[in-house]
Amino acid sequence: MTLDAKEQRRILGKFATGVTVASTKVGDETWGMTANAVTSLSLDPPLVILCIQKEGQSRSKFEEGGCFALNILSEDQQEISDRFAFKGPKDFSDLETTTAVTGAPILNNALGWVDCKLKEILPGGDHDIFIGEIVAGEAGDNGLPLLYFGGRYARLPG
Ligand SMILES: Cc1cc2nc3c(=O)[nH]c(=O)nc-3n(C[C@H](O)[C@H](O)[C@H](O)COP(=O)(O)O)c2cc1C
Repeated sequence: MTLDAKEQRRILGKFATGVTVASTKVGDETWGMTANAVTSLSLDPPLVILCIQKEGQSRSKFEEGGCFALNILSEDQQEISDRFAFKGPKDFSDLETTTAVTGAPILNNALGWVDCKLKEILPGGDHDIFIGEIVAGEAGDNGLPLLYFGGRYARLPG
């Protein structure tokens, strides 16, 4: 049985996720991309996965940057998720950010974040799998997560 892309999306859309903005830094330029194909991979060594579609500019930016941060968004940050989900340059200039070890932008009000050095890129069909080694991270106590479920944003009951 082969599944078409729409049906795969519909089925896997039942798997609720959080939403992150993955960020990187290439020279003086910062770059961000909304991503929910992320997961914690290993505790020892501390590794995470970020899957990036091959088409589009983000893939090469994250490879060139050699690092990435995952910013876990709160339910108040849907507007930030939307603006980093469009094609083309994505600007952090009017957002309050900081950096940790790698220089990838970290959003001040994120629920949590990890800063990673890019360790490996593995092939994954029309996406590539970016494995990052965590070099810094923090979790805040500031609220509830933004969720993605069934192709839409969702929220936990307050
Ligand atoms: C909720 C949500 C989750 C997304 N997750 C991913 C993801 O994990 N990987 C990915 O490559 N694109 C993901 N996207 C789409 C990218 O954010 C979008 O294609 C990218 O920003 C386009 O930029 P580019 O074409 O300039 O690279 C997601 C979009 C949304 C709205």
